[in-house]
Amino acid sequence: MQSQQKCIVIFALVCCFAVLVALIFSAVDVWGEDEDGITEENCSRTCRMVIVENIPEDVSLPHNGTTPLTSGLHTLLDLATRQIEIVSPHWNLNSTEYESSIPTAKQGRFLLHRLMGLKSQKISLKVASGLADSKELKVLSHNGADIHYLNMTILTNGKLLSSFWVVDRKHIYIGSAGMDWRALSTLKELGVILYECSCLALDLHRIFSLYWQLQYKDFLPSIWSKRLYGLFNKKRALPLILNNMTAEAYPSNSPDVFCPRDRVEDIEAIFDVIQDAKWFIYISITDYVPLVSNGISRYWSAIDGKLREALLLRNIKVRLLVSCWEQTHPLTVNFLWSLKSLCMEMPNCSMDAKFFSSREKPDGTVEGINHNRYMVTDNALYIGNFGWVGNEFTYNAGVGLVISQEEDPEDRNVTMVQQMRAVFDRDWHSRYAKPLQLNKIPVCNRHTAFPQPLKAWDESVEKTDGPNASL
Ligand SMILES: *[C@@H]1O[C@H](CO)[C@@H](O)[C@H](O)[C@H]1NC(C)=O
Ligand SMILES: *[C@@H]1O[C@H](CO)[C@@H](O)[C@H](O)[C@H]1NC(C)=O
Ligand SMILES: *[C@@H]1O[C@H](CO)[C@@H](O)[C@H](O)[C@H]1NC(C)=O
Ligand SMILES: *[C@@H]1O[C@H](CO)[C@@H](O)[C@H](O)[C@H]1NC(C)=O
Ligand SMILES: *[C@@H]1O[C@H](CO)[C@@H](O)[C@H](O)[C@H]1NC(C)=O
Ligand SMILES: *[C@@H]1O[C@H](CO)[C@@H](O)[C@H](O)[C@H]1NC(C)=O
Ligand SMILES: *[C@@H]1O[C@H](CO)[C@@H](O)[C@H](O)[C@H]1NC(C)=O
Repeated sequence: MQSQQKCIVIFALVCCFAVLVALIFSAVDVWGEDEDGITEENCSRTCRMVIVENIPEDVSLPHNGTTPLTSGLHTLLDLATRQIEIVSPHWNLNSTEYESSIPTAKQGRFLLHRLMGLKSQKISLKVASGLADSKELKVLSHNGADIHYLNMTILTNGKLLSSFWVVDRKHIYIGSAGMDWRALSTLKELGVILYECSCLALDLHRIFSLYWQLQYKDFLPSIWSKRLYGLFNKKRALPLILNNMTAEAYPSNSPDVFCPRDRVEDIEAIFDVIQDAKWFIYISITDYVPLVSNGISRYWSAIDGKLREALLLRNIKVRLLVSCWEQTHPLTVNFLWSLKSLCMEMPNCSMDAKFFSSREKPDGTVEGINHNRYMVTDNALYIGNFGWVGNEFTYNAGVGLVISQEEDPEDRNVTMVQQMRAVFDRDWHSRYAKPLQLNKIPVCNRHTAFPQPLKAWDESVEKTDGPNASL
């Protein structure tokens, strides 16, 4: 009898222990979290959206309906009342060293000062970052910001390249620009801001919460909390009224191990947008390198293959605008040329690629690198945080956003998708876009001769510095 009781007690203890361990290992939030009483049922679906762009001073392109990035971010800071959540691959806003030579560089410092002053306005600043010893994050932390550090090396063997803001769980920014003074000055950046869009903000906040919970973890939980599941995806896209026009939207996330249930992976979102295109696919991207390398480089067919299908099987017109910059992979030309030559003898196959390259300064550095990461089709746009390189999608953390909008036959070029197309067309037809020519390899990078082994490129991505390198 006694031993039976003992057994029961031990059994109960073991059970308790098991439950506890399960809870710890699964990152289930036991205490819950304040979601401000806004749920996916009563969140706001009527949003205002603007495309934000940083166009470097020495690149003479008109804004054409887009908002300057700096004023977009300051508007978000003006609107904030309670909480700002930021994820950025870089924290390098303090630009004092460069301010004498580049007038717009001080924008970075202004932004940093506003972030430092949030605490005194009783607005909390939360930052999730993969940077263990960033000076700037330490400064922000001293000024009251909450910083959570993720060891991405041990979690995915990659980097945290996500770049987005969630403000009061109402307004969001997502785009190519991180918290780097160059993004407000010398780099050509593009992003979107959605105001009063709590449904989308709620879902992006869940991705932020996922990062938040991974602070100091050296493994990924086997079970994610239900509060981290995706709210909206391809099958259940969020119906929106965007600037008074109907649209559908959903966010995406990378890598796959960061995607709990119902969360779409970036690569799937890209496939969907390519798949749903009816007439054209225009892509503006910093790097296009369909290779994945883990010591040895292998062809990564995912996006390249889908583009070939779109071109050859569905006669979709494809245009690729790729950046020509210091670290352009030499094989980029080969991959672009391969796509283009596929089409040459095929009727109704239309593919073209150009290199975006702005002026080269006398000292050999390239100004105004096109850091854009988007794709626009006749009925959708995708904006993400990655260059289109296999490794990015496999190892790194980043987010994306898909917005689909049917063309309004009554009122041309007013949907956001059409506005994005206008931005693409502006760049494509600008004097900075140089056609791809056979046997004429553009010299994007003075410091590396062509051809160059892959390994050297992989390493060079790691060690970049100075005002123009390192994206
Ligand atoms: C939204 O719904 C939740 C629960 O259904 C409720 O607690 C909350 O007050 C609602 N919020 C608003 C702003 O209506
Ligand atoms: C910015 O950098 C300068 C010198 O490079 C330094 O004196 C200053 O304290 C820095 N500001 C912040 C906010 O870190
Ligand atoms: C991150 O994890 C790696 C691999 O275990 C380790 O070498 C490194 O020191 C960790 N970084 C920090 C800042 O803890
Ligand atoms: C939105 O569209 C409706 C119907 O077309 C129109 O009545 C309304 O004035 C529009 N609102 C704004 C803010 O443009
Ligand atoms: C090319 O397009 C034209 C017009 O849409 C069509 O009539 C023709 O059959 C197409 N050719 C092929 C080979 O698909
Ligand atoms: C649409 O774009 C064309 C050329 O890009 C322009 O002439 C026209 O005014 C635009 N229409 C509207 C409603 O903005
Ligand atoms: C951009 O706007 C300018 C002036 O507003 C206009 O001249 C130009 O045609 C526009 N470009 C595009 C591609 O819409």
